[in-house]
Amino acid sequence: MADAPTVTEQLASDAVRRHDPDARGFASDNYAGVHPEVLTALALANGGHQISYGGDVYTAHLQDLFRDRFGPDTEVFPVFNGTGANVTALQAVTERWGAVICAESAHVHVDECGAPERVGGLKLLTVPTPDGKLTPELIDRQAYGFDDEHRAQPQVVTLAQTTELGTCYTPEEIAAICAHAHQLGMTVHMDGSRIANAAATLGVPFARFTSEAGVDILSFGGTKNGLLFGECVVVLSPERVRSIRYLRKMSMQLASKMRFVSVQFEALLAGDLWQRSAAHANAMARRLADAVRAVDGVTVSYPVESNAVFAVLPREVTERLQKRFRFYTWDESTGQVRWMCAFDTTEADVDAFAAAVAEEMAA
Ligand SMILES: Cc1ncc(COP(=O)(O)O)c(C=O)c1O
Repeated sequence: MADAPTVTEQLASDAVRRHDPDARGFASDNYAGVHPEVLTALALANGGHQISYGGDVYTAHLQDLFRDRFGPDTEVFPVFNGTGANVTALQAVTERWGAVICAESAHVHVDECGAPERVGGLKLLTVPTPDGKLTPELIDRQAYGFDDEHRAQPQVVTLAQTTELGTCYTPEEIAAICAHAHQLGMTVHMDGSRIANAAATLGVPFARFTSEAGVDILSFGGTKNGLLFGECVVVLSPERVRSIRYLRKMSMQLASKMRFVSVQFEALLAGDLWQRSAAHANAMARRLADAVRAVDGVTVSYPVESNAVFAVLPREVTERLQKRFRFYTWDESTGQVRWMCAFDTTEADVDAFAAAVAEEMAA
């Protein structure tokens, strides 16, 4: 009787591959797979035993990598995902009566299933913005009632870099927000789920628009830039942050085999992988925006400053396009759609999609 195939043999055969590895769309940077260099790093970290829950050598090395990039007082806490990073970070800079000021479009407000409220026990104070970006003036719409026992106390401003609408703050804009928030006694959190896209757009080191600009605590994203999973809570102002180790565990974000989160960040940050991947995704978004701007009837909604393109087009055209390519309608009321590029989006993908947009608009 022939030996049963090993798992490796099985994996090598098409029989167990249940998807087309060449099919890509524009739905989300999370639809992309794992960058091959990250998979290699994961394999390198495998084998042997290492201390669990962050006592491993990869997590120790990560501290040095982040200190080199953000400053000597930096502390890094790897977690599973972006929602967990945000909820852990925000709890560490608020008291039980604290509130968090954020844009109305913020992921913490619209896309975290109420976790900041339910898991973190936090009141979110939202502000409408034209382009996803807060300003000191917009923050002031919610930054009031200090010392009023009837009002949840504004203690934190959270901003996303890049924003949920694909726009990018300049270092000066962030510095102005931080100065304003600090003057009012508030702390600043950055949701950096796409921080690499921001650094690639701005062409400056991470520190320029985080620690040097006054950001106190950061959710540093990796998944959208080619990791299998994992984000980091990065403490930049330790004097403003409390008890994060306990909060991470309580928030169910403490990975026992942490070396496999940490080594992915090492793969991303030790060389230029973060930059190559993010700059490429950004360039693909710009290519797409340039192509569709030339199509009559398509309006690109916001400046394209990262890997996202938002556009408005007729609903019937969207429906036909969605039969051919995956992407989401972002706002049903206006017909606005979102097209995301990833580290593995190719020029050919973009050109084929842009041609399909032109074709369906003309049909
Ligand atoms: C701005 C922003 N923050 C945070 C996240 C983190 O999400 P998750 O919990 O799915 O990792 C996302 C993911 O879409 C995001 O777009």
